[in-house]
This record gives sequence, C-alpha cells and structure tokens, in this order.
Amino acid sequence: MLNVLNHPLADHVVTHLRDKTTKPATFRTLTYQISLLLALEATRDLVTRSVRVETPLESCQGRILATPLVVVPILRAGLGMLQPFTDLFPDVSIGYMGLERDHKTAIAHRYYCKLPPLSSESVIIVDPMLATGGSAVKTITVLRQNGARDIRFVCIVSAPEGVSAVEGVDPALPVFTAALDRELNERKYILPGLGDFGDRLYGT
Ligand code: PRP
Ligand code: URA
Repeated sequence: MLNVLNHPLADHVVTHLRDKTTKPATFRTLTYQISLLLALEATRDLVTRSVRVETPLESCQGRILATPLVVVPILRAGLGMLQPFTDLFPDVSIGYMGLERDHKTAIAHRYYCKLPPLSSESVIIVDPMLATGGSAVKTITVLRQNGARDIRFVCIVSAPEGVSAVEGVDPALPVFTAALDRELNERKYILPGLGDFGDRLYGT
C-alpha cells in the first residue's frame, strides 16, 4: 500500500537531494529533514491509550503512545534516516540489517543482522532507496521470520519495480516514500533518482 508524501517541503528537499552538486554535509541535513517528515507520516496511526493527567489547574484525560516501536535501518544508507526517529521516539528500540547489492547483479547479500524482540511491536524499516525491492523484500522476510507482524517500510525515493516487489510479498504492507520515480536503468539505479545514496551520504 503506497503512500507518497504530499508536502511542499518534501518536494523542496528531494529536489536538493537529487542535485548532483549537493555536498555530503548538506546531503546529510536534507536526509534528516525528509526523514523527519516521513517519520511523522509513517507513525500517524500508532495506537495510543487514555491516561489521566494533572495540569497545574485541573485533572484531564490525555493520550500517550501504547505500542512499543522498533526501527530497523538497512545498512548502510538507512543509518542516515535513523536520527529523526530516535529524536521523536526516544524509547524506540533499534534493529540492524546489513545488506549490500552486488555491483554486477544488483542482488543484495546479507552481512549483518541484529534484531530486538519484534512480535508485539510496530516495526519500521528505513532505507532511502527502494529500487528493485530486493533489499526490502529480504528484510521483510527476515523480520517476519523473527515474529514481526506490524511492519511499515519508509524510503525517500522509490521505483515502480520496488513498490511492486514489496506488494508481491504483502500487498497490505504500508510503504511511505517522498518520491515515486519513473523506472530503473540497466544497472538497476533509479531514474531520475539521485545516484548512490550511501556514497553521497558518506562521501565515498
Ligand atoms: C542501496 C540502498 C538500498 C538498496 C536498494 O544500498 O540503500 O539498501 O541499494 O536497492 P534494491 O531495492 O535494488 O535492493 P546498497 O546496496 O548500495 O548499500 P549501501 O547502503 O551500503 O550503500
Ligand atoms: N541504491 C542507490 O543508492 N541508488 C539507486 O538508484 C538504487 C539503489
């Protein structure tokens, strides 16, 4: 289930991320800004519960978050999206999934995985680029094998091929993206895209 961010600030930030002259320091700031907008959108339906609170003047009903949250960045580029989630949700648990695409085949292989308990948590996968969808599908599969039930996927730029791949494993799984691009090129990079996100984030 695809949700494309609809906010003028999102368009502005994505355009500067796409710009090949944007340097890594600015690229990291823009990544923080767009990830913050995406974090708010992806958590819009989190469950809350009613509590009584004493204001300085009287007692009233309020609501607080009721479901523990887990964020799973896909290494390495997903790490750039993590901080807005920890800033907004300080009690969040963090799992790590290390995947890297082979330069020739574009197939992602796993080199690291460390996950907290997932079965009664809302789990948010963060990875800036949803290209073929191979990394997303591998991560969703591993999270499901580890008991995750409520999974959302958050990315900055997506390709139709990647969205279809995620829909292929779970049509109801919410995917949040700031931009849905046109297609993949022959090397499985997103067009128009923004290039290699990890390289631009880390200056490699
Ligand atoms: C990039 C990106 C995603 C993946 C998307 O990572 O951050 O994880 O490619 O492509 P896919 O949808 O075709 O799987 P990459 O493998 O380049 O590793 P990095 O994050 O270490 O740069
Ligand atoms: N990974 C990236 O960093 N960029 C793409 O366009 C595709 C995969």
